[in-house]
Amino acid sequence: MKKVCMFGLGFVGLPLALSFAMRGCQVTGVDIDEQLVSDLNKGITHHLEFYEGKAIQEILQNQLTQDRFRAISDGSAAMRESDHIIVTIGIPVEEHKHDIGPLLEVCRTVGTGLKKGDLVLIRSTVIPGTTRDLILPLLEETSGLKAGQDFYLAYSSERIAEGRAFHEFEHMPAALSGINAQSTEKAMELMSLVTRAHITQASCMEVVEASKVIENISRDVDIAMVNEFARFCKAMGIDIFEVVAVANTHQRVQLLNPGPGVGGYCLPNALFYLLPKAEELGVDLNLLTTARQVNEAMPRYVADLVLRNLQVAPSQGKIAVLGIAMKDYSNDDRMSPALAVIACLQQSGCKVEAFDPAVPSCYDFKVDSLTGALTGAHGIVLLSLQNGIELMNLDLFRELMAPDLPFIIDTKNFYDPALLKEKGFRLERL
Ligand SMILES: NC(=O)c1ccc[n+]([C@@H]2O[C@H](COP(=O)([O-])OP(=O)(O)OC[C@H]3O[C@@H](n4cnc5c(N)ncnc54)[C@H](O)[C@@H]3O)[C@@H](O)[C@H]2O)c1
Repeated sequence: MKKVCMFGLGFVGLPLALSFAMRGCQVTGVDIDEQLVSDLNKGITHHLEFYEGKAIQEILQNQLTQDRFRAISDGSAAMRESDHIIVTIGIPVEEHKHDIGPLLEVCRTVGTGLKKGDLVLIRSTVIPGTTRDLILPLLEETSGLKAGQDFYLAYSSERIAEGRAFHEFEHMPAALSGINAQSTEKAMELMSLVTRAHITQASCMEVVEASKVIENISRDVDIAMVNEFARFCKAMGIDIFEVVAVANTHQRVQLLNPGPGVGGYCLPNALFYLLPKAEELGVDLNLLTTARQVNEAMPRYVADLVLRNLQVAPSQGKIAVLGIAMKDYSNDDRMSPALAVIACLQQSGCKVEAFDPAVPSCYDFKVDSLTGALTGAHGIVLLSLQNGIELMNLDLFRELMAPDLPFIIDTKNFYDPALLKEKGFRLERL
C-alpha cells in the first residue's frame, strides 16, 4: 500500500488523490486553503466529476469513511507520513505574467520533509525546464539529499479535462520522464496504479513539459482560427457554424466550433509558460501570440453583438447572461469569457443579471434563478450550457422578458432559428 501525498486539492489534485485512494493507497491531500480542507474532510466539494456512476461527493465520502483519504493544510506533517509525493500546484498568470512562487513554495516544503527513497512526481503544467532547472536544485538544497541517488524525481504532464477527470486519469495516454532511469521507473510504477492507457517514456523531462504546454496552445490556436473565421463569416452574412460543418466534410479538415472566448486555467495560461522560455532563447512566437490576442478579443466582440441588438440605450437596458462557467457543464469560472463579456456590458452601462447554478462563486451580478435573470431583460446572451438552465421554455422567457422583440445572442449554436422566430425572438449567432 503506497503512502501518497498530494499537494494541491483543486480540479486536478482532488480527483487524482481519490483515484489513488480508490486503488488502495493511503492518501494525504495538502492544500493551503483551510476552508477547502475543512469542507473536504466533511465530504463537501463543488466539483462535477463522476466515476462508474458515482459522483465525486460519494467517492470522497467513501474514501473518508474507509480512512484512505484525508485533507490537511500542514504540508510538513503530510510529508512525514508519505513516500510518494505528487505536486499539482499551478503557476498562476496575472496580466500575462506568470507567478511560479506558489509552486516553488510547495517544493520547498517537500524538500524540507524529504526522506531517503521518496519519489517526487511533478504533475503541474510548467515552463519547460522548470523541473530540472528550478525544482531539482531547490529539493536538493532544502533536503540535503542528492536527486537520483537519495530520492527520485520525475515529471508527468496532466492532460485531463474537467468533468472527465476520473475517466481520463485511467484512459488518457500519459507521458513521463525522470531525472534518471530509476526515477522514471518509480514514477511509472506509481502512475500505473491509476493509468491503464499507454504511458510514453520520453527521453527527458523537458520533452514532456514542452509537449504539455504545446498541446494546450495548439487548442488555443485552433479556437482562435475559427473565431477569426466567425468574424469573417458574420461580415459576409453567412453562418459560421454551417461553414464549419461543411468544411468538416473534407476528410482532412477538423475545425472546432467558435465560441465567446477561451477560459479556464489551462489554455489561456499556456502561452505565458512558453513565452518566458522563448524570450530566453531568442525565439519569436508571433503566430501563437496573435492567436491568444484573437481569443482575448472575443468577449468584447460578443458584448458588441449584444449592444448592437439592444433597442434601448445601454443605461436603460438589462441583459440576462446564461452560463458563467468557462465551458459547458462545468463549475469552473476561472478566467471565464463570461466574466469578461459581463465586464464589457457593465462598462457600457447595461444592467446584467447572470445565472449559472453550477458555479459556486459569488458576484454582485449573479442571481439564483433563471426567472431572476430573465425578468425585464431586453436580451439574453447564452455563453455556456448548464444542467439546471432550462433553455427551451421560450414561452416563459417571453412572458418574463421586456415586451419589445427580445433577442438572444446564441454563442453555442443551441437554438433552431426557425423556432426562435416563431416564438418571437431575434436570434444572432457568433
Ligand atoms: N484544471 C484542469 O483541467 C487541468 C488539466 C490539466 C492540467 N492542469 C494543471 O494542473 C495544475 C493544477 O490545476 P488545477 O486546475 O487543479 O488548479 P486549482 O487552482 O484548482 O488547484 C490548485 C490547488 O493548490 C492549492 N495551493 C496553492 N498554493 C498552495 C500551497 N502553497 N500549498 C498547498 N496548496 C496550495 C490551491 O489552494 C488550490 O486548491 C496546474 O498546473 C494546471 O495547469 C489543470
